[in-house]
Amino acid sequence: MEAAIIPPQSAGYNIETEWVEGEPFDWNTVNARFTWNTTGKVNMAYECIDRHVDEGNGERIALHYLSEEEEFTYTFSELKREVNRWANVLLRYGVKKGDFVFVFLPKHPYCHIAMFAAIKIGAVVGPLFEAFMEEAVKDRINDCEGKYLITEDSFLDRVNREEMPSLSTVFTIDKTDGAIPSITSEAEKASTELDTVWVDLEDGLNIHYTSGSTGKPKGIIHAHRNMIQQFQTGRWVLDLKEEDVYWCTAHPGWVTGTVYGVFAPLLNGVTTVIHGGRFSAKAWYEVLEKAKVSVWYSAPTAFRMLKGQSEGIHAHYDLSSLRHILSVGEPLNPEVIHWAYQTWGLRIHDTWWMTETGAQLIANLPTRPIKPGSMGKPIPGIEVEILDEEGQPLPPQETGHLAIRSTWPSIMKEVWKNPDKFASYFPFGEDWYLAGDLAYVDEEGYVFFQGRSDDMINSSGERIGPFEVESKLLEHPAVRESGVIGKPDPLRGEIVKAFIVVRDGYKDRDGLMEDLRRFVKTELAGHCAPREIEFIDELPKTQISGKVLRRELKKRDKVNS
Ligand code: WTA
Repeated sequence: MEAAIIPPQSAGYNIETEWVEGEPFDWNTVNARFTWNTTGKVNMAYECIDRHVDEGNGERIALHYLSEEEEFTYTFSELKREVNRWANVLLRYGVKKGDFVFVFLPKHPYCHIAMFAAIKIGAVVGPLFEAFMEEAVKDRINDCEGKYLITEDSFLDRVNREEMPSLSTVFTIDKTDGAIPSITSEAEKASTELDTVWVDLEDGLNIHYTSGSTGKPKGIIHAHRNMIQQFQTGRWVLDLKEEDVYWCTAHPGWVTGTVYGVFAPLLNGVTTVIHGGRFSAKAWYEVLEKAKVSVWYSAPTAFRMLKGQSEGIHAHYDLSSLRHILSVGEPLNPEVIHWAYQTWGLRIHDTWWMTETGAQLIANLPTRPIKPGSMGKPIPGIEVEILDEEGQPLPPQETGHLAIRSTWPSIMKEVWKNPDKFASYFPFGEDWYLAGDLAYVDEEGYVFFQGRSDDMINSSGERIGPFEVESKLLEHPAVRESGVIGKPDPLRGEIVKAFIVVRDGYKDRDGLMEDLRRFVKTELAGHCAPREIEFIDELPKTQISGKVLRRELKKRDKVNS
């Protein structure tokens, strides 16, 4: 049954004046908004911060931080000065254009400042998710031979320097006794003046490691040119206007947290809320009320959790500032959209994109009707096609490979040291980028997500590579073989489920389950730990190469549950 269509509720303030539905769109028209359009040289940090100061908006609030313990703000001028100070410290320690600077910090303005300090002097920033454990940190830094890391004291036990030989300097944001440099202490003494390192549009900006179905996570590198599409989707999809207060709930270690939590709002000169602390319905409603959030970007699992915890409490909060809500990362169930519409009186606008695409490509624009269950339509300037196994277009309603006509301003620059992986996104030639997602479109061009074409797991919107988890499990002395799949789950979309063939002599199955879970959680990352474990005598495998047949495991799981 097709869920009821929800008509547009708000003006699309920006898109209505900048584009006519159905007309083609030329991305070059956006360029005039940037300084590099006249100088030829660019820097994302300048466009996000300094430009607003130069245009007389230095006293406006750039960042608004709230946690249980404290609340404070940075104006654009204050942010500029602080970023310059940190950048001067980095320069003193030898950071140069093109170096990888990793940032391993909780959600906090220091995370933003560290990222911009690196970017402003031409370095490529690598934000790491705050819950990564030792191995996840090590894999990423070693893969691209990262030289610098900015972290805090309480994370240092997950930073194994002996096994990361490329790291020349680790900074802490805490005021230490001098064992390792404290970037905050040194910044206090540093100059607030800095010569921005101007780079080319094609120069590296950030790196995010992302999982697929095989191998270790791959380093996706993006370039400064991304700002064209990040700025414009900020205007059109997030519908940001100068007076908005915007909150993106993702950590910058995930691409959403970087692109739509750091870059897009600040490119648009909009106040960005940062919430330090964990999820609870009460804490989140408090943030929405206290910070007077008007535009809010989150994810289906969070909305489902809010739905589960909202009863009796949402009415206690004043959410009158809120006018636009968006979602990304995993399928958004129609029932959640309807619940939100009834509870908050607002539509949730689903959006689709990937780490590799650098910005939103498919979205529910504020001006368009929403068909719950659909991710929306391609945004202006983007062409989508559904292709069959031979790369031929399929008619409406038929499921196939979701393909995007290349290219667009924010497409990845490269997969670090892996041109074969880069080429694998274009199996039918350079015209079509294949997402690895399966989808169909309807007669009006609305796109409906149908699943992945590979074994990648999406749990709470986080991409998890089954191979990575299988490899970790194999390091445990009790495990002879392991196979890992995503199992459908009503709250998290999917959960990680592991099938284990145990070595002889391991009897305590209950104790072992707990131990295996803890093993993955403490060595890799909490979100990768299998929530379900099943012991099995033998794993289904391909006859020739002996590879684990995850599809068979999925089938078996479906039959048994
Ligand atoms: C999935 C996150 C359904 C999809 C920005 C994609 C979605 C992968 C949606 C990218 C959506 C993203 N509905 N599935 N609206 N948005 N996905 O790189 O499978 O962490 O390929 O980027 O998430 O995940 P990534």
